Amino acid sequence: MKQIATDIVIVGAGLAGLYTALNIDPKYRVDIVVKESITNANSSLAQGGIAGELDFIQENLDEHIEDTLKAGSYLNNKDAVTVLVTEASANIKRLMSYKVAFDRDSDGNILLTKEGGHSSRRILHSGGDATGKDIMEALKTECLTRKNLFFHEGTMAIELIHDKKTCYGVSCLDESDETLHFLAQDTVLATGGIGNIYGSTTNSTVATADAIGMAYRAGVNIEKMEFIQFHPTAFHNEISLHRQKFLISEAVRGEGAYLVNSEGDRFMHKYSPLLELAPRDTVSQAIYREMYDTWTDHVYLDTRHLDQEYLKNRFPTIYNHLRAEGITMGKDLISVSPVQHFNVGGITADLFGKTNMENLYANGECASNGVHGANRLASNSLLECIVFGNRIAQDINNQIFEKKIYESNIKQYNSYKYNYKPMKKKLGMLMDEYVGIVRSEEGLLFAKNELIKMLSNLKKYPNNSKHYYEALNMVQTATLIVESALARKESIGCHYRIN
Ligand code: SIN
Repeated sequence: MKQIATDIVIVGAGLAGLYTALNIDPKYRVDIVVKESITNANSSLAQGGIAGELDFIQENLDEHIEDTLKAGSYLNNKDAVTVLVTEASANIKRLMSYKVAFDRDSDGNILLTKEGGHSSRRILHSGGDATGKDIMEALKTECLTRKNLFFHEGTMAIELIHDKKTCYGVSCLDESDETLHFLAQDTVLATGGIGNIYGSTTNSTVATADAIGMAYRAGVNIEKMEFIQFHPTAFHNEISLHRQKFLISEAVRGEGAYLVNSEGDRFMHKYSPLLELAPRDTVSQAIYREMYDTWTDHVYLDTRHLDQEYLKNRFPTIYNHLRAEGITMGKDLISVSPVQHFNVGGITADLFGKTNMENLYANGECASNGVHGANRLASNSLLECIVFGNRIAQDINNQIFEKKIYESNIKQYNSYKYNYKPMKKKLGMLMDEYVGIVRSEEGLLFAKNELIKMLSNLKKYPNNSKHYYEALNMVQTATLIVESALARKESIGCHYRIN
């Protein structure tokens, strides 16, 4: 068994993890645990951009606050939203200092776009529709210049090391499934989303709810798990069996695309005066209704009235992906359907990312610090990662370090490798069918009983493998989603109950 004593251990190398790491005082050693490779994270897939007012014009800041609250059905923590919006400028400028090149016009002015729920153009983007990828590449380059940062790729965190009150680090499995303990003053969870619990998701294949699973087993508070956001426009490909679906950014609608149903009719006017730019929960629920009424499993994004050359330059990633599928933006209809996209709830965290366990922080999609309420406003997620990543780093920098070493008592299981693929597939089908955009008491209870059976199977044959812990994290997190969905009887935000 190997052990590394460090100052801070960060679990996850998406934007939430890397930005936190970069803002920690370089006098501290920071070890970063990465399940696969540094840029393989949901952050790299973000297309639309990063929301934020760069100038301190109170009226504009107030509008961003109001749009965020409205999208979240006012279930947000207003203090957290105020922090998010007012600290956007400083942190976005720091991204620029790390050489993130946001798109500009020929006079050098930053170009801004609009997405659902935003009352003005305030979203910065890079490479047209490659914002996440460009930010992650720039941050990776910056990280590799820092002597205090140590990356451990191919390493999966499996359990927190704790005594119920305080966290002392994290136990991991390295590339050969050997146990490796990181003993640290502070631990930051930043593993991203939960998308692979569902049968269809825009998330990266690494998003398997790892932080939420670990935190749950350690007794850390988790909240608002009923709020699962479905992105309205994932590319709908009849023959693709992949869980990960290609995202077609909301910014395409921001630049004027329409939604039409299988009969070729626009329909958003029936659901919201904001039409195609209503918040995501409204648009996904409207598409669900249209698909139901027209007996189909997709609708279309219509860009035929927009200039093909403009679309090609503005959305190169999407344009090229669709070309490979035989579809030309600006000429053909694009088939789309809603799929799981974002976990709105998560590990309860305060305004400095602190959880209820001492020396344990959470940031990004795995955390719930109150900014999103019942539904996240488009392009607020990259912003959340940097604003709260900076706050976590400042909180850590202001601490007096006293290394407490705690000998982990992690169990050693047999290392037999079971095949969890069939269970994961069944889980995806169950969640899509009964815990999707529209939920009922009967469906949720059915899902709950199935999950109890899966969990009891997993607990019968524990083993020391990444596949086992992924399956365990996924099933336990799915159970939290179902229990929260059962408890919230009213429809609000992205939680929609028919009974
Ligand atoms: C998109 O570009 O539509 C996704 C961005 C986000 O999730 O906010």
